[in-house]
Amino acid sequence: MSFSHTFFSSLFVLAFVSPLLASAHICTDQFLTEVSQMNITEKFCNTKTLKVEFGWNFNNESRRLDIAFGGRLHGETGWLAWGLNPVGPHMVGTRALIGIKRQDGTLEALKYNITAATKIGCQLLPSKDIGLDVRNFSFVKVNIGYYVIRATIFLPKEYNSSKANVVWQVGEHATESGPLMHPTSIKNFDTAEVIDLVSNKVIGYTAHRRRQLRTAHGILNIVGWGVFLPIGVIAARYFRKFPEEWSWWFVAHVSCQMAGYGLGLIGWGLGLWLGNHSKYYIFQTHRNIAIIIFTFATMQMFSLKLKPKATDEYRKYWNMYHHFLGYSLLAVVSVNIFYGIRIFGENKAWKWSYVGLLGTLGGVALVLEVYTWIKFFLNKVEEKKHGSKDQISAAVIPAPAVQGATITAPAPAVGAAT
Ligand code: HEM
Ligand code: HEM
Ligand code: HEM
Ligand SMILES: *[C@@H]1O[C@H](CO)[C@@H](O)[C@H](O)[C@H]1NC(C)=O
Ligand SMILES: *[C@@H]1O[C@H](CO)[C@@H](O)[C@H](O)[C@H]1NC(C)=O
Repeated sequence: MSFSHTFFSSLFVLAFVSPLLASAHICTDQFLTEVSQMNITEKFCNTKTLKVEFGWNFNNESRRLDIAFGGRLHGETGWLAWGLNPVGPHMVGTRALIGIKRQDGTLEALKYNITAATKIGCQLLPSKDIGLDVRNFSFVKVNIGYYVIRATIFLPKEYNSSKANVVWQVGEHATESGPLMHPTSIKNFDTAEVIDLVSNKVIGYTAHRRRQLRTAHGILNIVGWGVFLPIGVIAARYFRKFPEEWSWWFVAHVSCQMAGYGLGLIGWGLGLWLGNHSKYYIFQTHRNIAIIIFTFATMQMFSLKLKPKATDEYRKYWNMYHHFLGYSLLAVVSVNIFYGIRIFGENKAWKWSYVGLLGTLGGVALVLEVYTWIKFFLNKVEEKKHGSKDQISAAVIPAPAVQGATITAPAPAVGAAT
């Protein structure tokens, strides 16, 4: 099908091209021209996540650090933040220079101590003293449409110049009293790095490498839980007995579920690994739903060993249990895939590819469902015509006779002899 072809090729493009684009470390020419007018002699420049750019000069003798940090602010209000953290490469503890764009169009440059209280939602208020000697701090809009924070800092002794924790952020909303919470997708959290200011090297920034793993995590989870499992369910629901009887349905069902479980499990493990390696934040809801998915799917897989025989009396209870858990699983899987795509941020293409995929699977199921009912009613009409009494008793339900067993259960829940 041409849709699935487009879907998978767009995923592959995302998987292999986007990391290459993301790892380009050089600033744009526009930004370089702009900062060279600010006496930043383009000594080192780095393009960051959030499409912001950062250039600096550092003199190890005088410990003078000149910075220019720029980016776009699309909304009516917004803010750019750049700071140093004496503790580590993360938000709490950062001494930040924040440029705020107000509703009335005015710009303001203020200094802030970012604390644990900020993280739990306390209003951020400016501080006179942030423990840094900051001079000529300004926030301006330049010709290229960027907003730029410009400052000179004399680095205190507590800051190790060969191990500076640089933290930045872009917020979309600000009020009269100050900046409001920034967005919470992964790109807003990969905004800290460790820089050796003396040799101009980034020594600690893993986000580019992680990007590929996160992409792999997303694809494995979408393909495993989001494609194989529903296809396997379609095989079991529509090809077991009615409307079509296909002797390979069981093989198809079990192999799809096993393949889906296998791929999904790798994706799940990769997610846990990624989660454990991003020390300063956690996606609790995504993680909790993932654990539910793992539990439900593992219980379904136990069917391989624990499924009662078709002739067992309690088989119909197993069927109900297996169906209920199976459909619940499909529901939580799609919720978590949407959730994961939201965390991942960046790309509308992901969301719409998945919506298209769900639509395709849903469409196939709908067509088969309608076909089931049409066939069911046609059969009924047929039987009325020929009126052989002893056949009707077994045929009042869509799945006509139960192979090798005498179980009669409501329509789709008929136990096949597998
Ligand atoms: C306006 C007030 C702010 C609020 C309410 C806020 C709130 C938060 C919250 C709730 C998280 C997620 C934490 C988690 O999931 O565990 C976070 C993460 C983060 N924020 Fe902020 N933030 C604010 C300002 C800033 C500023 C000004 C910066 C940069 C200087 C910044 C940098 C970061 C970074 C790098 C992370 C990733 C996790 C970490 O390093 O701790 N935030 N923020
Ligand atoms: C049903 C499918 C999925 C499952 C079971 C799953 C599972 C997980 C788990 C267990 C984590 C670790 C959470 C933590 O400890 O903080 C995680 C993180 C994550 N997931 Fe998923 N995920 C799924 C789908 C997706 C999708 C479709 C995407 C989109 C690309 C995605 C993107 C992410 C991202 C960006 C993280 C954060 C990684 C990090 O902290 O560096 N997930 N996922
Ligand atoms: C994650 C894995 C699995 C999921 C999500 C799943 C889901 C489902 C669902 C939703 C149905 C009902 C389809 C309908 O509406 O008729 C079904 C039927 C069935 N499944 Fe699974 N399944 C999984 C694994 C397995 C495994 C490993 C076996 C191997 C024994 C198995 C054996 C069956 C059988 C025999 C039926 C037919 C039940 C009946 O007669 O009504 N399933 N499965
Ligand atoms: C700050 O700006 C003033 C005026 O432009 C300039 O004279 C001074 O040298 C600057 N200070 C630093 C530390 O760059
Ligand atoms: C600064 O960091 C470097 C690199 O980790 C280390 O070798 C050096 O000892 C540190 N200097 C101080 C004064 O802590």
